This record gives sequence, structure tokens and C-alpha cells, in this order.
Amino acid sequence: MIITPPRKINASVRPIYDATRPKLYIETYGCQMNVNDSEIVASIMQDAGYSLTSELAEANLVLINTCSVRDNAEQRVLGRLDCFVQEKKRRPALSVGIIGCMAERLKEKLLENKFVDLVAGPDAYRQLPLLLEKVETGQKGINVLLARDEMYADISPLRLDRTGVTAFVSITRGCNNVCTFCVVPFTRGGERGRNPETILNEVRELKDNGYREIALLGQNVDSYTGGGMNFAALLSAVAEAAPDMRIRFSTSHPKDMTDEVLASMARHDNICPCIHLPVQSGSSAVLQRMNRKYSREDYLQRIETIRRILPDCAISTDIIAGFCGETHRDHLDTLSLMEEVRFDFAYMFKYSERPDTKAARLFRDDVPDGEKTARLTEIIELQGKLSMESHIKEIGKTVEVLAEDVSKRSDKDLCGRTPQNKMTVFPREEAEIGDIVRVRIKECSQATLKGAIANYE
Ligand code: 5AD
Ligand code: SF4
Repeated sequence: MIITPPRKINASVRPIYDATRPKLYIETYGCQMNVNDSEIVASIMQDAGYSLTSELAEANLVLINTCSVRDNAEQRVLGRLDCFVQEKKRRPALSVGIIGCMAERLKEKLLENKFVDLVAGPDAYRQLPLLLEKVETGQKGINVLLARDEMYADISPLRLDRTGVTAFVSITRGCNNVCTFCVVPFTRGGERGRNPETILNEVRELKDNGYREIALLGQNVDSYTGGGMNFAALLSAVAEAAPDMRIRFSTSHPKDMTDEVLASMARHDNICPCIHLPVQSGSSAVLQRMNRKYSREDYLQRIETIRRILPDCAISTDIIAGFCGETHRDHLDTLSLMEEVRFDFAYMFKYSERPDTKAARLFRDDVPDGEKTARLTEIIELQGKLSMESHIKEIGKTVEVLAEDVSKRSDKDLCGRTPQNKMTVFPREEAEIGDIVRVRIKECSQATLKGAIANYE
């Protein structure tokens, strides 16, 4: 059963393709915030006369929007940079720019590679057209200033997703927490909240353009303040401004998530019952060294409150294995916390020391790499079991799925998410991308649910 009317699509937030303009090829690494930043960059560059391309071979300019959160994220970008350098050797007129978190962290060091023309940090995107003018005269362009007041609030991001169904809306930039492992406060600066009117305008614009779901983004959404509103008030205002759209948000911080936010979720059917609440570790001693400002018990208390106010809420998390000084006992505490909470989903990582962070300065990265890998493997295996368990509970239920795309495996199937963010695949029948469809779940794997549209079984 399809429960939404057909989408009215107006294309004003999509890129314009114009063969006569110089072409920008943009590649994005890292978090959702970076995906949204690339859309802001695309908007600035389109206004400056560029047209976007998905073909490297026809690009005049390549921008790599980078991530510094772990060393392997940076290594991946450097590997990819080599490919762009090869392209530039073949076509010397091609300009290559590195933007985002690595640009901010490594600054002019990146220009030591003579094939890199431009470096711009996350608060310098308005300067890109000016920096490119310099590049055109044969100089290098660099701007890595962090600006306390830059929100890009007046820029309408050019949506780069393929299907026009779900969109990101940034509500804060930067971060004021000082988790000892984390490079983000250095690469993105202090936290700023965006004016709520500009957020609501962007939401309405997305609604008018046929989008069906928005995800509000911030490094720590719970500490949002803007125009006298806290996050709970903003969430309600967004849900009421777009009652037919699904609203998601990320990331919540266990020390800041209030009951008022949970109440706002409980009051609005269109706010998805789904919370991403990174725990990082199940050991209070490790949490203290991480400077997370909550204990294992505080975290479990938050989970209990979520379950009481929102019994159907899915909970996902981030976990770091092998942080400085983590003992085997601490690791067992992480496993037991996972068992206790029974997370629906988790992102799991090995600790990766980041230069200049507090952890790098204060502690020794003393868990051997082999041990980190062994602990991470145990964490991943346990989460696999928990994710499977969470999926098995859905079998037999009829759930509402927002069809986001055609399934990768077969063009006869669509895929999309349940309100609890569970990826679901089903035969498309008469449904279109962008429809919300009632799907009866018949089987599952750790990663996906499978079912059929109710009425078509
Ligand atoms: N090493 C490993 N994982 C990290 N994260 C952040 N910094 C590091 C690091 N130095 C993880 C955290 C965070 C997620 C975005 O990335 O789990 O929540
Ligand atoms: Fe996003 Fe953090 Fe990576 Fe920057 S370092 S791209 S903020 S995950």
C-alpha cells in the first residue's frame, strides 16, 4: 500500500548542467556534515560560473572534501589524490584543490605536493572563487582561517544526491566538546548555532522541491542554541513546519540529550524514533580519560529514560576499541554494555591517535595494534548478533518504508528505510522512488530487512 500522494518535483535546488561552463568535479569523504558542505561548495561554485560534472575526464577543477577523523580516512584521501595527480600530469590545465578537515589540519603542508593548487578549510568556502582566480594566474591559493561566525546560513545548498528524497540540513557547525581523542574541534573550530528562521526556510524549500525526509546535522545537536531556541524547540518547530516530511537528527551527546528532546519526539509522529547516541566505551575509567563527561551508569540511565518515553525507539552508537590505557577488563565492560543496551546498529573503530589532540599529548597509545584489532573484531561480532536480533523482531510486522532508491541488486526492487532507520528491500510493484509504502517484513539479514508491499503479497 502506497500512503503518500505523488511527489511534485521542482528542480530549483538541483545543479544546472551547462556545457559551456567550466566543470567542477567534487569528491566527498567523511561524515554527513561533509556531504552537506560539498553541497554548499557546489552552490558557491555554480554562482561563480561553474557547472558540476560526475566525469573526472571532463573536469577543469577537482575539489576533494576531506576527513581527518582517523588516520585511515586521511590515507584514503592521499591515495585518491595520486589519481588526480596522474590526471593533472596528462592535462596540466586541470586545477586540484583539497578542502575540508584535512585542509584545516595540514594547511600549507598540502601545497608541498606541487600538483595541489588550492587548500581551503571548512570556514573558507566563500573564498573559493577568489582563490581560484589566484590559481588561474599560476599561484597557489590557500585559506584555512576558522571564522567564529561562518554558518553559510544564506547559501542554499545545491543538492547532489541522486534521487531527491532525503536531504541534510546543518543546524550547527564546529564543536565545543573536548573529547581527548577527537580532532574535530581543531578542524572545524568552536560551535555555532544557525538562526532557526534560516533552518526553517531551508526545510520549506526542500518540501517545495519534493523532498520527503530531512536529517538535521550537528556535531552535538543537543547543545544547539539559536534565536533563543534550544534543540527540543527547534526539533518541534521543524516537525510542525513540514508535517508530511520525516525528520531525523544526528549526533546526540549522552551528556546533553534532554528529556525535553524525547518529549518533542514523542509528540510528533513525523520525527523518526531513532537516536544515534555514541557511547565510545563501556568503561567509566576510559570515558573519563576520553573526557566524555558521563559514566557507564549515566549512559545506561539515559537509555532507560529513552526506552520509557519512546518504547519503539531504535538506538545506534559509535564505539572505539583500544583507546589509551584500555585494559582487557575495560574492553569486557564495553561488551557487557553492548549486551545490556542491545544497540540496533553501531559504527565501530580502532582508536587512531590524532596529532595535537589531548590524548596524543597526555596519554600513550599503548594498546598494541594486534590487540586493538582483536578487541574490535569481538565488538563487531557481538554487534552483528545484536543487529540480527533487532532485525528478527521486525519479521511479521508491517512497517512504513520511504523508498529512497532502486535496490543495488535488482532494478525490480526498491530500497528505503523504516522510521527506525532499518534498510528494507521490496519488489517495487507500482511504487515510485519517494513514496512511503507499507511493507510486510518476511526475512532479514544483519544489514537489511526484506518484505513485500502490503496488498501485493
Ligand atoms: N580514533 C578512532 N575513532 C575516532 N572517532 C573520533 N575520533 C577518533 C579517533 N581518534 C570516532 C568516534 C566518533 C566517530 C565520528 O568517530 O567514535 O563518534
Ligand atoms: Fe566530519 Fe569529523 Fe571527518 Fe571532519 S573530521 S569530515 S567533521 S567526521
